[in-house]
Amino acid sequence: MKRTISVAPMMDCTDRHDRFFLRLISKNVMLYSEMVATKAAIYGDRKKILSFSPEEKPLALQVGGSNKKELSEVAKIAEDMGYDEVNINLGCPSKKVQKNKFGACLMKEPNLVSECINEMINVCKIPVTAKTRIGFDDTEDYDYLNNFIHKIKDAGCTTIIIHARKAMLSGLSPKENLNIPKLNYGMVYKIKKENPNLEIIINGGISKIEEIKNHLKICNGVMIGRAIYQNPYFLVDVEKEIFKTQNCPTREDIAKELLKYLEKEVSIGTKVNHIMRHTVGLYHGQVGSKNWKRYLSDNMMAKDSDFQKAKHIMTIVQNNEKFNEKNA
Ligand SMILES: Cc1cc2nc3c(=O)[nH]c(=O)nc-3n(C[C@H](O)[C@H](O)[C@H](O)COP(=O)(O)O)c2cc1C
Repeated sequence: MKRTISVAPMMDCTDRHDRFFLRLISKNVMLYSEMVATKAAIYGDRKKILSFSPEEKPLALQVGGSNKKELSEVAKIAEDMGYDEVNINLGCPSKKVQKNKFGACLMKEPNLVSECINEMINVCKIPVTAKTRIGFDDTEDYDYLNNFIHKIKDAGCTTIIIHARKAMLSGLSPKENLNIPKLNYGMVYKIKKENPNLEIIINGGISKIEEIKNHLKICNGVMIGRAIYQNPYFLVDVEKEIFKTQNCPTREDIAKELLKYLEKEVSIGTKVNHIMRHTVGLYHGQVGSKNWKRYLSDNMMAKDSDFQKAKHIMTIVQNNEKFNEKNA
């Protein structure tokens, strides 16, 4: 499994439509689902919550929970459904998640985490990975983190994604906690240096190719969230600079392929806006950005947006492309 670059799991963002769109742009990045609670995966509408298109692969299911039996059941479901990896969320600080005892509050319970991961590993052959933080509340201590990482490793998990910002379980909203307190990449580097056999993926605030290259000198992989959601075409830079891919799709190529997907999905009842809302950033930083956003919001963001209007989107795309080519 190649995890050199991955797109972070993001609630309300990295659903199956977003992942399909991102996969049109990059063939080499690893993709993660939004977090799915164990109970939702076991008792909910599994097709709606967990299904995906084969094109999205390689794909990981991220799960939230702390009940060993449920977690192992979901790991098996993930494997049976064709996911390539199952990842346990040990980093989300939200109150709701804490109430259900999953996410970052589990950093306080290394033994429980170890047992949960061990059970998951015992029931499936796909890799079980963990996504955690460097600390929580007043605890930003290397020895604590290293001990936690060792518990995860002792359970048999060798791939750990570390968000280099501690989780604030109280006092800050989850949104605020995405920017405060300060990032501490040094702690992640030290974990990698002292645990060379672990695959350590660094995450948090990474948005430039140079930054990615620097992190890759020490860590095994880089996970990027917001920078890709806001500017999905950044993945073309990633393909060119990190994976040395020569023939990358233009925005026009991407829009054409997405239109085919849109038509197919609409025919089975998917709403136009559920797909197109993820494409708002396609022209991020380009001259055509305003036109693109305006077209989307005027025609494709309403609950009852019509697919027929989507067809005209290629006119906007082609005009934007011509303009940007001329000014390149
Ligand atoms: C809208 C949003 C939703 C998120 N949802 C999840 C989630 O479901 N599971 C998770 O582990 N992290 C979640 N995160 C955190 C990201 O995975 C990532 O760790 C964080 O955004 C830092 O990376 P970045 O600075 O590259 O965005 C979310 C972040 C955002 C912005």
